[in-house]
Amino acid sequence: MAKTKTAFVCNECGQEFPRWQGQCNACHEWNTITEVRLGLAKNTRSASFSGYAGAVDNQVQTLDQIDLNELPRIASAFSELDRVLGGGIVPGSAILIGGHPGAGKSTLLLQTLCLLAESMSALYVTGEESLQQVAMRAHRLGLPTGKLRMLSETSVEQICNIADKEKPKVIVVDSIQVMHMSDVQSSPGSVSQVRESASFLTRFAKQNGIAVIMVGHVTKDGSLAGPKVLEHCIDCSIMFEGDSDSRYRTLRSHKNRFGAINELGVFAMTEKGLKEVANPSAIFLSRGEDAGAGSLVMVIWEGTRPLLVELQVLVDSSAMANPRRVAVGMDANRLAMLLAVMHKHAGLLMSDQDVFVNVVGGVKVTETSADLTVLLAMVSSFREAPLARDLVAFGEVGLSGEIRPVPNGQERLVEAAKHGFKRAIVPKANMPKKPPLGMEVIGVSKLSEALDAL
Ligand code: TYD
Ligand code: MG
Repeated sequence: MAKTKTAFVCNECGQEFPRWQGQCNACHEWNTITEVRLGLAKNTRSASFSGYAGAVDNQVQTLDQIDLNELPRIASAFSELDRVLGGGIVPGSAILIGGHPGAGKSTLLLQTLCLLAESMSALYVTGEESLQQVAMRAHRLGLPTGKLRMLSETSVEQICNIADKEKPKVIVVDSIQVMHMSDVQSSPGSVSQVRESASFLTRFAKQNGIAVIMVGHVTKDGSLAGPKVLEHCIDCSIMFEGDSDSRYRTLRSHKNRFGAINELGVFAMTEKGLKEVANPSAIFLSRGEDAGAGSLVMVIWEGTRPLLVELQVLVDSSAMANPRRVAVGMDANRLAMLLAVMHKHAGLLMSDQDVFVNVVGGVKVTETSADLTVLLAMVSSFREAPLARDLVAFGEVGLSGEIRPVPNGQERLVEAAKHGFKRAIVPKANMPKKPPLGMEVIGVSKLSEALDAL
């Protein structure tokens, strides 16, 4: 009998170790390492992810000899989903949609597949809900139900056998945590089952040119494999985020072999299922009539498009020896750095003030373009002087108080103008030759100039 190989793998980050240990060296989590069966040695030869089954006569080629006949992408019914995938579903790709239970993954995929099935063969495999439950939901959402093929199954081999006969173009597997393979001993949901099932499905997708979309639940529980351990074998990993008490859900790609990452898609969960939000800036901008001091709008860059988001800063005299610095939606170290720049180059000392920064709408800003906005909003709150409602600002602030340019300045300004903003404070190097219609653009190269422009 072939020898089975095992390895020890971290559930959180997927790092492999030769033997068990209590803490993962890579991500420093405790008790996340479990033993994983790597599959029979006989499988390893066929475990090539490089092409379809036809390509058995492997040859070395130069890049220009490779046939570029790109397969057309499959457009789903949701342009927000297509955007996150980099322009549609690539045939033969393996896609993982992760998210907390109740985020709406099943709803999103059911809606997508019911509509896709109108024009091509599609298979929806559910291992979590009964077929009746899925059918009831589809009817309630008023989806076309005549074409989509449904299957209730949790055995990966069975699914692939059936898919081989049905020849769908797209398969949804809901969810990977309940799938199992017969030659893996551990129970469904364990790291080895999830890993083996996902890599088997990925192989199947590549070899048959079928797009496989897998659902994965994110959980902190170490006994369940988080989608982290899968990220290296799949092509796209997208996360569906949003609190179940909030109406809005965001779809964000964390890995994408066929497009830009950090692309953001915005959906609203309604009683009729998920609806796309075509103009996400509008929802993050819903400010009241009197915005108050410390509120300013910034233009951040999300993947391939600009997004207008309101930023709020509250500066208040502190009763504590160590004043509080709290940053929600941005890096706390960055805030500390900006406070130092503020003191050194604008002469505003905040060491006896509490400073709270909040990015409205639960958006997380990872870009440096928010620096200038934070500083201007901070000054506004400190001086209790509200800023004009039609003002936007963006720009990176350097340690010597200089305002540095950020990428895509022109597009950011155009987006702001589209939403009715009349004035913009931007880095001098981002000054457009011709400002967008009806907008006054003020270019600044130093922090002091920016404060003068207020
Ligand atoms: P679901 O797709 O089952 O989540 P997941 O598969 O990610 O676990 O969605 C569940 C939530 O969505 C549930 O809490 C109710 C809500 N929901 C609506 O608000 N409206 C709807 O039309 C549907 C179908 C679900
Ligand atoms: Mg579900």
